[in-house]
Amino acid sequence: MTVKRTKIKQIFTEALVDTEVWVQGWIRTRRESKTFAFLEVNDGSTIKNLQIIADQQLPGYADWIKELTTGSCVGIKGKLVPSQGKGQSVEMQAQQVEVYGTADAETYPLQKKGHTLEFLREIAHLRARTNTFGAVYRLRNAMAFGIHQYFQDQGFLYLHTPILTGSDTEGAGEMFAVTTLPLQQIPKNDTGEIDFTQDFFGKPTHLTVSGQLNGETAALALSDIYTFGPTFRAENSNTTRHLAEFWMIEPEMAFYDLTANMDLAEDFLRYLIRIALTQHRDDLDFLTKQYDPDLINRLEFVLNNPFIRITYTEAIDILVSSAKSFEYPVSWGADLQSEHERFLVEEHFASPVIVTDYPKTIKAFYMRQNEDGKTVRAMDILFPGIGEIIGGSQREERYEVLLARIQEMGLSEQDYSWYLDTRRYGSAPHSGFGLGFERLLLFVTGMSNIRDVIPFPRTPGNADF
Ligand code: 4AD
Ligand code: MG
Repeated sequence: MTVKRTKIKQIFTEALVDTEVWVQGWIRTRRESKTFAFLEVNDGSTIKNLQIIADQQLPGYADWIKELTTGSCVGIKGKLVPSQGKGQSVEMQAQQVEVYGTADAETYPLQKKGHTLEFLREIAHLRARTNTFGAVYRLRNAMAFGIHQYFQDQGFLYLHTPILTGSDTEGAGEMFAVTTLPLQQIPKNDTGEIDFTQDFFGKPTHLTVSGQLNGETAALALSDIYTFGPTFRAENSNTTRHLAEFWMIEPEMAFYDLTANMDLAEDFLRYLIRIALTQHRDDLDFLTKQYDPDLINRLEFVLNNPFIRITYTEAIDILVSSAKSFEYPVSWGADLQSEHERFLVEEHFASPVIVTDYPKTIKAFYMRQNEDGKTVRAMDILFPGIGEIIGGSQREERYEVLLARIQEMGLSEQDYSWYLDTRRYGSAPHSGFGLGFERLLLFVTGMSNIRDVIPFPRTPGNADF
């Protein structure tokens, strides 16, 4: 069957009336009166349903009307007319109906409105059919497209970095192993260690935690690059902010110092938030009404106010003199816990905050060391309700200093020899950062659990669907 289909979004944005169109989508509700039926159809192009009036006189009415239950899939041809009812500008008078797939009213799980997000997570294969997940997935798509648009407009190259890798970018060891060795009978060498020479790649391999090191090699040739791909962390953090599989955007720029890096990150976040506010208002209005009355205000705040920039040492001073009793004690040298980040962002400054110059002992080996010998040119961007949304740094471009740090941290010089080569030949000052895509989406959608901003979340104990 070939029909020229019109998407429902187009009907509303162009306020089409007095035209005949075909729509195809899924029935959300059906109400019947004595002489006709009211149908609400959604096709995912917009949060709005098209209201359709089907007269009893239509051919085959008695046959198809009983199949048009909530969740069933239909194609309907009809005439668009100005709507009498309030709430929508246009409605359709049906002329012809085709049923593609029925949905049994007894068993279809999305019969009624108002399911909990926990329940919807258990039926993740069907939750795209709800208003909430339609809105979230449309925003996810818009942000992904906006990310490419932003960097492409500024002449950044999109670089594909490997997902299977032998290096550990963050040096934190939170990696998923990848192997073809038989788990029942793992081969051992003479000294009783696993014999990786028999493995697929001939050495230990895992899923990447970050594309940064590969990204740096390209920035030191092509100037400005970005990656945007899946990353994996085997950290056993069962929180509303952590996924085992998440998407990360990692720009890397030659000749940027830390200030230029922060300026880019701020401008980038604002660009994306502006897209959400200006081009996806319907979805944001729905999410604001349904989940988070402060959502749009918060997005506008970020758009209109520069982020506070403080050093780690200043942050510690503020926390110590706050006289608040934190669960984790505050002292110079300890990492900021989420309660500390929340205090700074939500109470003390009531604004996004960029914390810079962390102690080198709590940051990765590749960050540029400051003259004080204690801190590095790191920057974390902390957002209200989210905590760390971006982590980045100016990179250590000095060969000797980088090598010494690798040795000091007990990392293998040999494993990083290719990375060290970039400092041996034509090294340049450079910087970059990583934006957690799902953390961005938490902020933009106002959802409170990271499992609800990715279609099929992977978390400890859960890889369903
Ligand atoms: O701070 P992270 O670990 O930094 C890096 O991976 C650097 N290589 C980035 C760079 O400089 N190119 O991670 C970056 C961001 C965090 O700020 C956070 O938003 C997100 O990635 N992130 C996670 N998101 C969801 N689930 C997790 N388990 C995450 N771990 C980090
Ligand atoms: Mg970090």
